[in-house]
Amino acid sequence: MVYFGFLTQLLSVQIPLEAVSEEQYNTTMAAATYTLPSLPYAYNALEPSISAQIMELHHSKHHQTYVTNLNKALQSYSAATASGNVPDQIALQAAIKFNGGGHINHSLFWQNLAPSSSPDSKLEAAPKLMAEIKATYDSFDRFKEAFTAALLGIQGSGWGWLVKEELTGLRIVTTKDQDPVVNGEVPIFGVDMWEHAYYLQYLNGKAAYVQNIWNVINWKTAEERFQGTREEAFKVLKSQL
Ligand SMILES: [Fe+2]
Repeated sequence: MVYFGFLTQLLSVQIPLEAVSEEQYNTTMAAATYTLPSLPYAYNALEPSISAQIMELHHSKHHQTYVTNLNKALQSYSAATASGNVPDQIALQAAIKFNGGGHINHSLFWQNLAPSSSPDSKLEAAPKLMAEIKATYDSFDRFKEAFTAALLGIQGSGWGWLVKEELTGLRIVTTKDQDPVVNGEVPIFGVDMWEHAYYLQYLNGKAAYVQNIWNVINWKTAEERFQGTREEAFKVLKSQL
């Protein structure tokens, strides 16, 4: 139930606070379904850094599967809640966390990438974020080294993120599997380090994938997230309700 509460917050599922009938409650819960967001660019737009084949499979198959399985899990959770089946509610939390996290992470990821020909992929698109990166890491190159090391240090599947935290400022964090960024941080940009994100093009050359991902980071989106709130960073999800 902890994770479901977390998702209702992140995914903006609106649960009315006032008393409602069971039918109204079930209708409200059943309406919380999600759809695959469109990419803000063509599948081949990130070449040569990320191939069109990878982008199409990654978006239309992998991300779609997270969305489909999240909706199934939420429907089952809704039924388990309506029938007061607590064991089933507990059993479903892992599926909600994994698939909900997959949907959240990929939705953020697509938005924080941009074609290398776009002005959005230039460092100049993020002046305030760059100033903070330099204040925190001494230089952009040192930040890049630290972020790259964090990405390559991930064992198995996971994600690397630059996050903004109210107390500590900028931080580099990694999350395992499809765990989303939690604990109140604002995700500024993330990099998918699952093999499905690079293997068809780079094979075991994970370091080359990480080197080339820098060509297609959307610094305009990163700047907006840096200057915005956590809720604003996740706004891409709200449109999927
Ligand atoms: Fe992925």
